Amino acid sequence: MNRAIERFKKFLSERLYAFQLSFYRAAGIGRTLAHALANPDGRWWLDPHHAPGVRERLGAFVALLADQFDPRRLHDFRRRVLTLDGEVVRAWIRTLQSQIRARQTNGARTVGALAWPTEARSKLAAGWLERELGTRAPSALGAGDEGVVFVAEGAVHKCFDTRRLSPERACWLVERSKVWSAARGLSSLRSTVHPSGRVVLSYRFEATRPYEGGHGDGLRRLLDALCRAGVVHRNLHPDNLRVADDGAVVLVDYGSDLAPASGEEIACMMRRAFLCGRYARHPELKVMLRAAVEGGDMPELAGLDAFVNGPIDATKETLLDRRLERMVRQRGARRVFDYGCGKGEVATALARDGVDVVGFDPDPSLAARWRRASAARFSSVREGLACRAYDAVLCALVLCVIEPDEDFEGVVSDLAGLVAPGGEVIVAVCNPDSVNRSTLLQRRDGCCDPTRTAVTSKTLRGPRPCPPPTGPCGRPRIARSSRCSSTRHCLVRACAP
Ligand SMILES: C[S@@+](CC[C@H](N)C(=O)[O-])C[C@H]1O[C@@H](n2cnc3c(N)ncnc32)[C@H](O)[C@@H]1O
Repeated sequence: MNRAIERFKKFLSERLYAFQLSFYRAAGIGRTLAHALANPDGRWWLDPHHAPGVRERLGAFVALLADQFDPRRLHDFRRRVLTLDGEVVRAWIRTLQSQIRARQTNGARTVGALAWPTEARSKLAAGWLERELGTRAPSALGAGDEGVVFVAEGAVHKCFDTRRLSPERACWLVERSKVWSAARGLSSLRSTVHPSGRVVLSYRFEATRPYEGGHGDGLRRLLDALCRAGVVHRNLHPDNLRVADDGAVVLVDYGSDLAPASGEEIACMMRRAFLCGRYARHPELKVMLRAAVEGGDMPELAGLDAFVNGPIDATKETLLDRRLERMVRQRGARRVFDYGCGKGEVATALARDGVDVVGFDPDPSLAARWRRASAARFSSVREGLACRAYDAVLCALVLCVIEPDEDFEGVVSDLAGLVAPGGEVIVAVCNPDSVNRSTLLQRRDGCCDPTRTAVTSKTLRGPRPCPPPTGPCGRPRIARSSRCSSTRHCLVRACAP
């Protein structure tokens, strides 16, 4: 609470300075208008023949301004703000829930007020496009800080507000876009610079859907193409990206956020892109993206290296199977059980290395495939699973496909029964942030909202407490996923009982 009060006061004083600035501006406008009223000569708009009644109305308005924006009021207000008692803030914070509810209602009301200038700006820009560039029937796609984006006759036209994008920067962008012309996800640009200072960037329209995270390969491809063209995007955000039918991630924001690349800027773009991919729907994404620009350690960036340096078009085989095989080899396991082994590829690879491997999968249709993989032994019969004989027990992508609770618990208990004392169970589950939805594992657990976290944890109930890697015994058996360093799977390790 003390930290909240401290932060509140910090923001309050920042707002106070902004308020003072606006206050003096309004007072200045009042004084300028009062001066004009007192000296109407040469001001046609104060001439009663041109504008009957305007002097009276303006006079009343000037009086209102003088009253409202009296510097004595500001001094009094400033004193009250700067000496605000922490207890008042504390009491206010306690009412925060109801404050938020009230503001949500107010927010709904302001939409109409904000819609007017946006609509007027769009109309103005559409008229300008039609008149000056002969664009037929432009239909607004959206409006941003820099201008309004239209679609017309199969092309997108971003019509920048006057002087929002310099002609030089537009020209540079068009030149850079020739470098990335063959890359998927980036568009070839054309620019039109009007004598009035307005710039329009145009490119081919492509039907896409909103980007909601994931699509790591598409994102990497887009970033690589930008880097090859010597360009960075300084403001990557899920709203600036879309997804095409073929799964390509498409950039839809061309403007002053595209800048010449430097080492630090590229690193910053990668950090932001990684966060967009992993936390696209996270309510704190904005805060994370801002922190990523500042650099420094962020737990949310765990796995960034694999994203930046890992292969594009990685498959389950390259990302997960090879990794599981490495883990087993590194541990020097001699006897391995692959639980829910599927086609038995990992079991076969390990058996070829001389490891004694048993693969088990209850799906009887797999037997035909196993016969060809002779180096390992396979079974589809769920028997003899309590032997506690294996140094390593693998269970890859099984727990996230099991529906009934009893089956799930049965598998967990089988895993516990198979592993030898001192051995290790290695469980891989789908990464919900990569597959873009919660898996059966998270839904069963009920504790993990995939939009909020990439970490999945699951308590495994076992017959005996499990000794933690260091420290005394006595904790319950916990399988906790490491932060996912591959883009698609999480590894979960459980101790042997
Ligand atoms: C997505 S596949 C993964 C296969 C393999 N582990 C791999 O990584 O390629 C899931 C496997 O879990 C198996 N499976 C489903 N329910 C199971 C259960 N109750 N016990 C053991 N295996 C199960 C399926 O037959 C299927 O082969």
